Amino acid sequence: QHKGSDTPPPREVWLYDPGYVSTACCHSSITFIDGDKGVLEYRGYPIEALAASCGFTSVAHLLLEGTFPASVSARSLFAQSIEPKAGIHPLVGDVIQSFPRDAHPMTMLMSATAAMSACRPEWNPALVRGDGGSLRLVYGTRALRSHIAQECISLIGSAAAAIFRHMHGMSVYSERSAAVSVKHSTGASPNSFASAFLRAADPQGSIWPENSQQFAVFAEALDVLFVLHADHELNCSTAAMRHLASAGSDVLTCLAAAIGALYGPLHGGANEAVLNMLEDIGSPDAVEAYVASVKRQERKLMGFGHRVYRSYDPRAKLMRQLARKVLQEAADGHNQRSSEPTGADTTTDPLLLIAQRLEKRALEDSYFTERKLYPNVDFYSGVVYRAMRFPNVFFPVLFAVARSVGWLAHWMEMLDRDALDAERKIVRPRQVYVGHRQQRIPQDAMEK
Ligand code: ACO
Repeated sequence: QHKGSDTPPPREVWLYDPGYVSTACCHSSITFIDGDKGVLEYRGYPIEALAASCGFTSVAHLLLEGTFPASVSARSLFAQSIEPKAGIHPLVGDVIQSFPRDAHPMTMLMSATAAMSACRPEWNPALVRGDGGSLRLVYGTRALRSHIAQECISLIGSAAAAIFRHMHGMSVYSERSAAVSVKHSTGASPNSFASAFLRAADPQGSIWPENSQQFAVFAEALDVLFVLHADHELNCSTAAMRHLASAGSDVLTCLAAAIGALYGPLHGGANEAVLNMLEDIGSPDAVEAYVASVKRQERKLMGFGHRVYRSYDPRAKLMRQLARKVLQEAADGHNQRSSEPTGADTTTDPLLLIAQRLEKRALEDSYFTERKLYPNVDFYSGVVYRAMRFPNVFFPVLFAVARSVGWLAHWMEMLDRDALDAERKIVRPRQVYVGHRQQRIPQDAMEK
C-alpha cells in the first residue's frame, strides 16, 4: 500500500512483504519444494531417490546442467573438474594462513573466496551492446560459464580442505594430490567427491586413515550429506548469490557473499548452533527445562522450523537414519582403537539421545505443532559431522562446500535465461519510508 501524501504514486503495485515471505522474483527449474507435504525434488527427482542411488558428483551435474552425466567417462571427467584438490593458489593459502587457527573457519572461507576473485580477473562480466541495441552484462558463453562453475566448486572445496588443515596445525600448502586414486578393500567408491575432500583435508590420513572401514563409511555418509545440502531453491544464501549477480559482481564475489549469508545461525550456521545447544542441555533429563524456556520465548529450538516446510523436512528424516549408521561406525572404531572397549553404541551416544528426546518432546507439544515447527535438515547433521570428528565450527563450512553447487546452478540459470531478461534486472527492493521529512538542521549541529 502506498500511503505517502506528497510523493507521486508509483506506477507499479507495491507489496509490503518483509522477509519476502510471498514474493517470487524469478522462474526456476532447478529445485521443487512442497512445504506442506514435505516434498523436495532436484530437477524433478525426489531427494530420497537421489540420496539412495546417486553420488554427489552426479547430483552436482544434474543441478548444474539439468541432466545426469551421459556416460561413466563423462562422470569421471566431471568429477575430476569439481573435486577438492590439496593444492591451492598461493594468495588463497596466504589469506588462510594469516588467520589465527582458532578463528571461525567461515570467516576464513569467506575471505579466501573473495581473495580468489583477485586471481580471476578474466571472470568479470563484460558490458556489450545486444542485438536490440541495449547494453547488457555478458559472462561469456554457456560452455565458459559451465567451466567456471565447475572450477568454483573445486576452489571452494579445496579452500575448505586447506582451512581444515590450518585449523589442525597441518600445512596449508599440501603437496599431495587429492585426486590420487586409492584402492579400498571396503567397497566404497574411492573416487567420490566426499572421499576426495577427506583426503585433501587430511593428506596424511592421521584423522581418517584411508584404507580403514571407517574412512569408507564416513566418506559414503558425507557424500549423502552433501547431496542433501546441495540446493534448496531461493534460501537466504542463494538469494544473496542472485542478488549480487544482478549487480554484475564477478562469480567469486557473489560466492563470498553467499557464504556470508550461510554463516548466520538462522541459516547454515544452525548446524553448529544445534550442536552447541545439545551440549548446553547436557543430558536428556534437562530437555524438559530447555523446552520450557523455549516456550517462554527465552531462546529458540535450533534445528527446528523452516520458512517453507510446514511439515517434516524430508532431509531431516534421511539425516536421522544416517546419524545411526555413522554413530555406530564411530563407536565401533573407538572400541577397536581403545584397549578398554567402552561398549559405546548408537543407543548411548549422549548427544543423539538428547536430540531424540528433544524431537519427541517437541512433536508432542501443541506449542510446536500449532506453529508447524518440525526438525529441519540441520537438526541431525551436526550430530553426524561430530561423529565423523569434524569440529562444531567446521559444520557450516561443509554445508558451504555442498551448497556451492546450488549457488552456481542458480547463477548459471540466471545468466542462461536470455528470454527472461527482466529476471536479470538489478535486484532493488523498495521500502516504506516512515521517517521525518524536510527537517531544518539545528544551529548547534551546523559545521559550515
Ligand atoms: N524455536 C522456537 N520457536 C520458533 C522457532 C524455533 N526454532 N522457529 C520459529 N519459531 C516460532 C516463532 O517464535 C514464531 O512464533 P510466534 O508466532 O509466537 O511469534 C513462529 O514460530 C513463526 O516463526 P518465524 O520466525 O516467523 O518463522 P520464519 O519462517 O520467519 O523463520 C526460521 C524460519 C528462521 C528457520 C526459524 O524457524 C528459526 O529461527 N529456526 C531456528 C534456526 C534454524 O534451525 N535454522 C535453519 C533453517 S534450515 C536452513 O537454513 C538450512
